[in-house]
Amino acid sequence: MKKFLSLVVSLIILSNVTSAKEGMWLPMLLKSLNEGDMQSMGLKLSADDIYSINQSSLKDAIVSFGGFCTGEIISDKGLILTNHHCGYGQIQSHSSVENDYLTNGYWAMNHSQELKNPGLTATFIVRMEDVTAKILEGIDSELKESERQGEIRKRINNLVEETTKDSDYGAYIRPFFYGNEYYMFVTETFNDVRLVGAPPSAIGKFGGDTDNWMWPRHTGDFSLFRIYADKDNKPAEYSEDNVPYTPKHYLPISMSGIKKGDFTMVYGFPGRTQEYLTSYAIQQIKEVINPDQIAIRAKALKIMDKHMKASDKVRIQYASKYARISNYWKKWIGENGGLQKANAISLKQDRETAFLKATKGMKEYEGLLNEIEKRYLAIEKYALARSYFVEIPYRKMEMLRLANRFTSIINQTKKGEEIDEKTWTALKEKVALHLKNFDLNLDLEISAALIESYKEGMAPEFVPSIIKSKATSLKFYKLYTAKSVFVSEDKINGLLNNWSKGKAKKVEKDPVYKLMKQFWNLYAKEVRPAYNAISNEIDSLSKIYVKGLRENVPGTYYPDANSTLRLAYGQVDDYEPRDGVQYDYFTNTEGILEKYDSENVDFNLPGRLVELIEKKDFGKYADEDGSLHVCFTASNHTTGGNSGSPVINGNGELIGLNFDRNWEGTMSDINYDIDQCRNISVDIRYVLFVVDKYANAGHLVDEMKLVKTVAPVKVAMEK
Ligand code: ARG
Ligand code: ASP
Repeated sequence: MKKFLSLVVSLIILSNVTSAKEGMWLPMLLKSLNEGDMQSMGLKLSADDIYSINQSSLKDAIVSFGGFCTGEIISDKGLILTNHHCGYGQIQSHSSVENDYLTNGYWAMNHSQELKNPGLTATFIVRMEDVTAKILEGIDSELKESERQGEIRKRINNLVEETTKDSDYGAYIRPFFYGNEYYMFVTETFNDVRLVGAPPSAIGKFGGDTDNWMWPRHTGDFSLFRIYADKDNKPAEYSEDNVPYTPKHYLPISMSGIKKGDFTMVYGFPGRTQEYLTSYAIQQIKEVINPDQIAIRAKALKIMDKHMKASDKVRIQYASKYARISNYWKKWIGENGGLQKANAISLKQDRETAFLKATKGMKEYEGLLNEIEKRYLAIEKYALARSYFVEIPYRKMEMLRLANRFTSIINQTKKGEEIDEKTWTALKEKVALHLKNFDLNLDLEISAALIESYKEGMAPEFVPSIIKSKATSLKFYKLYTAKSVFVSEDKINGLLNNWSKGKAKKVEKDPVYKLMKQFWNLYAKEVRPAYNAISNEIDSLSKIYVKGLRENVPGTYYPDANSTLRLAYGQVDDYEPRDGVQYDYFTNTEGILEKYDSENVDFNLPGRLVELIEKKDFGKYADEDGSLHVCFTASNHTTGGNSGSPVINGNGELIGLNFDRNWEGTMSDINYDIDQCRNISVDIRYVLFVVDKYANAGHLVDEMKLVKTVAPVKVAMEK
């Protein structure tokens, strides 16, 4: 009986492998790993309809947007839908106090009004290939790890080179499961991507940082771009002669509505997850790294907020930077809360216990976990120093950051080398961008405050001597930087205009440059080498750990996100965040009015939207319940980079636009929990309503293909 029971139990565990909703799956493996499961959950398509290299498939409608978000093609004229927060940098760069598209939105009423965005790209995946054998086969197992890595790198470079020579395509190869497997992605990148439309921030960012990472949500987080190509439909630099791109596939848009339990999939470019971390790693993130990073950002945000509220110019200059800093500040708070509540450390310990039990007596795994633990103890000091360096001088002291941009031309000049045109142009662009979005008083105050945090939090050997013995205050930092060229726009431009050996020497003596050098050198000498060495060891050990888990411990194993194309699937679903609290799976426009507060920038609304909502003037975008749905939650495993990803139903039609996760669920990057983790999307009908009814840009909706598979049963009557 006992034997029989344990057989049943292990069958149940093993069968779990194929019925999971957790995971970000590789499109080319859907056929072998997920197709049956997906179809049993409601997918009406085949794996080939989602990913194929022989016929057009859903993948041909998905782009990596700028390398940091996802976008999808929704018309036969290359129209891209992505998030407002993904296009935010572009919307901001076209904005000024006079033409404030952040506040008012922007809608191109014809192709000639679509705005170019130098540097912005849209990248398709042409195909992917398992190249594990080519990369790993025959590598001498006796090789030292560093030599092994060297050999692997060489093979990767050769294979990429071989694949892309004489071709218009690009390619990259990434390790999966810590280097147990390798896949190659062949890409086609377009670099004429124009801004077509963006709602006012009061719609696209409604709820602001208050609602960010939270449910219930009412954000119309979308913007529209368009890919332009040359006459042969090939990528080309911006030119007036370019024409809208004709895609191999574009997503039809479902007007049928969404019900709890509906099958959903999210197709996109998730950035980074670490699902196979050990308990030691989780503990370090939760108890050492996150708390300090949260405190540093809280301090910076408070100062930024003060300056932004005091000046419209500063508000626009820092809008994008503020949003970026605030985003992960809040995410880490949620992540720590989720890890605590889920008892994540003990869950990982359970996995370690199962690992030890399953691999008992196997030489390869003996002592492995102890070795990993040792490395985490050793890396802690460097990991913390690294995050202080990144969070403080590297990212938030903007004058230092600018000074650092001069390092390489100074070195070249001193060596008597010629500086090429390209380097100059790049530097000038960076400097111009810095000056456009820079406020001296804000930077002085943040820098002074964060130097203080740095000195409090860092071991003395990581503190630059210039600030070590000084009582650091705003007064100190102002005085210290007063004579620097980096406090003055004129002086900076003067530097660029007639550069010389003398200038190079002068900058080297500049106080801001000197402080920057000390920070950067300390990091390069005292932190980075040790951090990288231990971190590489952890990766090598993790490779063995993950292999051991996959081969010996039943479970669902999917590769961590690494900015490559993935498909997550699940269903429209609600959740219970706390005892006694049950959230609905969708919101509607009534909630927008409930939150409306003209005194609070996060919840202010354009009068026109209030009017449309009050009149219930929703047109064909209303749900069959008569209301206009705004956002919904589903159990798709997503992460940063999935923003802008399409949420697709079982017929391959677009039902929503992914943009966020619930706060309790942000831990999903390191500990996914099917009961707690939800992705948050805008209902596609709300997007279309804003484009059509709010912005009167119905010509854009006319470009799209709207489909309705189920006739509405009943339409609620309005009096
Ligand atoms: N939390 C979402 C993501 O990680 C949205 C961020 C943008 N919104 C904001 N209020 N900062 O990207
Ligand atoms: N908001 C995130 C993004 O920009 C998505 C997430 O982390 O859930 O990619």
